[in-house]
Formats: sequence, structure tokens, C-alpha cells
Amino acid sequence: MPETAPTPSGPPSGPSSGPLSGPSSAPPEESVGPLERGLALLRAMAVDPAVRQRPSDLARATGLARSTVDRIATTLVGLGYLRSDGRDLVLAPRAAEFGNAYLTGSGLPDRLGSLAVELADRLDESVSIAVPDGDDARFVVQATRRRAMAVSFRIGDLLPAERCAPGALFAAEWDEGRWDAWPRRRANGVDDANGTDDGGYAVEPSSAPDVVGFRELAQASAVRGWSVDDQLIEPGLVAVSVPVRDPSGATVCAVSVVSHTSRHDAASLTGHALPRLRDTAREMERRLALPAAPAAPAVPPSGRRLKEELGSGFLQSLARGLDVLLALGAAPGSHPLAAVARATGLPRATARRALITLRHLGYVGSDGERFRLLPRVLGLGYARLAGLSLAEIAEPHLIDLVLRVHESASMAVLDGPDIRYVARVPTTRIMRLDLAVGTRLPAYPTSMGRVLLGALPEPELASLLAEMTPTRFTEATVTDRAALAAAVRAAARDGHALVDQELEEGLRSVAVPVHDGLGRVVAAVNVALHAGRGTPDEVRAALLPPLSEAARAISADLALTDRLPGARPA
Ligand code: PHB
Repeated sequence: MPETAPTPSGPPSGPSSGPLSGPSSAPPEESVGPLERGLALLRAMAVDPAVRQRPSDLARATGLARSTVDRIATTLVGLGYLRSDGRDLVLAPRAAEFGNAYLTGSGLPDRLGSLAVELADRLDESVSIAVPDGDDARFVVQATRRRAMAVSFRIGDLLPAERCAPGALFAAEWDEGRWDAWPRRRANGVDDANGTDDGGYAVEPSSAPDVVGFRELAQASAVRGWSVDDQLIEPGLVAVSVPVRDPSGATVCAVSVVSHTSRHDAASLTGHALPRLRDTAREMERRLALPAAPAAPAVPPSGRRLKEELGSGFLQSLARGLDVLLALGAAPGSHPLAAVARATGLPRATARRALITLRHLGYVGSDGERFRLLPRVLGLGYARLAGLSLAEIAEPHLIDLVLRVHESASMAVLDGPDIRYVARVPTTRIMRLDLAVGTRLPAYPTSMGRVLLGALPEPELASLLAEMTPTRFTEATVTDRAALAAAVRAAARDGHALVDQELEEGLRSVAVPVHDGLGRVVAAVNVALHAGRGTPDEVRAALLPPLSEAARAISADLALTDRLPGARPA
């Protein structure tokens, strides 16, 4: 049975009766107001590229009363989806849970992601997977080559159909109503069935698109089975895409190879990439046709404790609605109402009203019996959060740490035999060693260096140690290679390193590792302090617990925003 998601051309073609009839512009009677308004606020937070937003600006952007914005914000801060930063609000990495729910529910990154990575490796070009989302194309996988290319899209980014290669393939399946409505919607700057303007495009749509030309292009692309983007997004960027279909023949997604005119023009990219791209698409189709293991959704209800904590300021129906959204994405595929109610611990009637609301807003599709998340969920800030750098993720946690311990805290990554500072939060106390972000220090006499070296495979560590020429910075500096190797191994074994005045007299520091979503050590965080502040044992006892807690919080945020780890900027 076809799914009835709100489509831009009006009511869907699915059943019009049953528990959930088709969406219309007005909210259905049973729609949950606080859930609608909470999602509007999250979407507004996601759209504006500014990191921080004032509640008053959000009130203006959403048309909500200021007091309503405040209650929603209190609830979303309590749930951990927003952070309040003085007067301002910031989207917190936990909000990536929504997009992750869609990605898990769709099964696409899990089933197809490794094939995209393999193709990128074989062709030595970027490969992406996009799904149709309304009239547009939204990225769900990015296997990016690290190259100086003008733009690089993120998972969750939305591209207008007429400006990218996947768009022509998706438009080949539009019906007459959709082709009629499309230029009007473009002219009005409106991009969903409810008449709201997401403004969430990664590149601007054309306000007066060439409908006839695009329709011809879509037809031609469908006939030959591939489409090409010859610098539609910006000068230099070229891409070729092929569709990936499900067993019924419907296009589930498009897989693209992306290059730059400094390496390929559109024709040579097509010649170079198309044969392997087609093989990959066929293999993807085979994987999509494999039956998925049946799985029941499950999600811990988030709001119960908060209701007691925050009292009447807490919008329980918003929290419950978001639980329903997360539950739908906790396992691949679509789920019946009863399973959603069970997973969330909510009464059926409550879960049903949340589903009706989510469906009306275009976040959920349904055949009348079963429900699944739609790509629009990625518009709730996923691209922004997936694009956060290590430093941006770490900073709020380092600030909390410094406020707790009243000493300075930093994060560094390994860069050859050196460490490079990527984030630093100083205390007001004067320290002789004043380090700026970007500073490099030799790894061997620093606590973060010992932790980072300790995470290396043995042969790599051995060759780095062999290359180093350890210098005596102080009386205490360990310069003997065997002793250094032992100190590094001790750091790996203990899960932390304390370095006592080896870099500078009077400076003591303690560091622990930070892990990515795959458990790999990607950075270290430390606290540095004057040696007069306590003995090494006292420093360990006082600082290791809060430092480890900060590292765990940073690692948890990294895991939430790291779908295909490896390409995060430091
Ligand atoms: C991309 O993945 O960056 C991409 C894909 C298709 C396009 C343009 C860019 O047409």
C-alpha cells in the first residue's frame, strides 16, 4: 500500500478513511498544540545559521507568543534538546536524536552506507546518498573525500530538486498535480504541504524555475537511468546520480558521485564513474530487497521526572510527542500504533494524537495502519549538528568543567608527533603558560600527548617515538625512549595521564581520552594547574572525576552527531 505522507500536491493518494485520514492545511482537530509549537520552535532554531538565538527573535520567527516560547524552551532545555546560554538558546547535540531516529528507521545509512564508502574509495571521489523529501532532495549519507572543494554538504542538508542531480531522478516520478503546484510553491517560497517556509535549503531554489526544461530533463534522466549536475550548485561542482529502487520499482534514494572541474568535467565524470556507480546501485537494490529483521521500537520515556522538577512550566504533551517520534525511529521499518504505545508507555489515545500531529506536520508517513518517520525529521537541526566541529561540541562541557574546578581546561588532537590545541577555556587565575587554540606542543612531555599516544597501535607508536628527539624542558622531563614508551602505556592502561612539571616548572596537568561513536580515541581533554595547588595524588583525587565526566559527556555528544565518523573538522 502506498504511504500517505503529506505531499506538496495536496492530499495524498492513500486511504481517506481509517484511524488517520489524509493531511490538510488546517491542523486536524485532535492535533496536539504544544507538540506542533515545540516542533516549530526546533525548526526555527535549525533554520537560522546563527548559533545562538534570543527568545524574542524566536517568537518573531515562529509567530508564537513570547510566554509560549519561554514554556517550550523550558521544556526543551529540561529534556536536553536545547541549551540555554545566558539569555540565548542553542540547539544541543542531543537534538540529533531526532535525525538519528529517522536515519535508523529508514535503514539507509546502516544498509547502504558501507557501499557508499567503498565506492568513494574506489573512485577517489565523494559519494553521497539523497532521498526525496517533498519536492526536494535530502542527504542521508555523505562519504566525503577530504579535498579542497568549494562546498561539502552534510547529512540532513536539503537541496532544491532543480539544482542537483538526484532531483531530476526524483521529479521523474511526480504526477501532474505536483508539476502544476511546483512553480507556484517555488514562487511563493513555500516548501511544504502546510504552507510554511522552512527556509532550510543548503542552496537557494530558483524563484522562477524553467518548468518545461526541468520536466524534459527529468524525463530524459528517467529514460537513460542517470542524471548529471553540471555546475548547477556552483561553478566547478559536478555530479552524476543513479536511482536506487525498492522491489516495487519506486525510487528510494539516489546515489551520486561528486567531483570538481579541476579533475573532471560532467562528461568525463560520467564516463569515469557511471559503470561502478551502476554496479553499486544494483548492489544497494539487492540489499534493500533483503528482509529486515523484525524489531520492536523502544524508547525510555523522558519526561516523567522532569514533570516533577519543572512543575507547570513543563509541557508534558510536547515531551510525550517527541518520545513518540523517537520510538518510531528506534528500529528500522514502520510500526503499528500498538507498538508505539507500548514502546513509549503511553495510552493508545495519547500516542495516536501525537502520530496524527506528526503526520500532519510531515514528519510521519502512514499507510493507515503502520507509521514511519519521513526525511523531514532531518530538518530539525540535524545538518547543523552534524557539522559541529570537535571544538564546538567540547566547549560547553569544558566551560562547565572550568566552572566546577576553577582551573583551565583544554582539548587537543594528535598531529604527527605533536598535539594541537583545538579548544581551551582559561580560568582567570594567571598562568605563565598561556596557550591559544591552534598551538602545537610536542606530545611526549604533555598529559594529553601521553593519552593520545597511548591510543595508537603499537607499531605506529614505535615509529613516532623513534622519530622524536626528546628535549629536556625541565629537570623532570622524561627523555629516555623506553621510559616514555612505558609512560604512554601506563596512560593507556590507567585511562589517564598525569604529567608533573615536565613541560614547564610549576605546571602539572592531568588528561583523559575522548572517544567517537565507534569508540576510537579522537582527542584528549585536560586540566592544567599550578603545582603548588596540591600533590599529584590530590590532583588525581580532586580532578579526575569531573574531568572524566566532561570527557564522557563530550564523547556522548560526538556519538550522537557522528553517523559515518571520520570527516569531522577539529
Ligand atoms: C553532494 O553529495 O555533494 C552532491 C550530490 C549531488 C549533486 C551535488 C552535490 O548534484
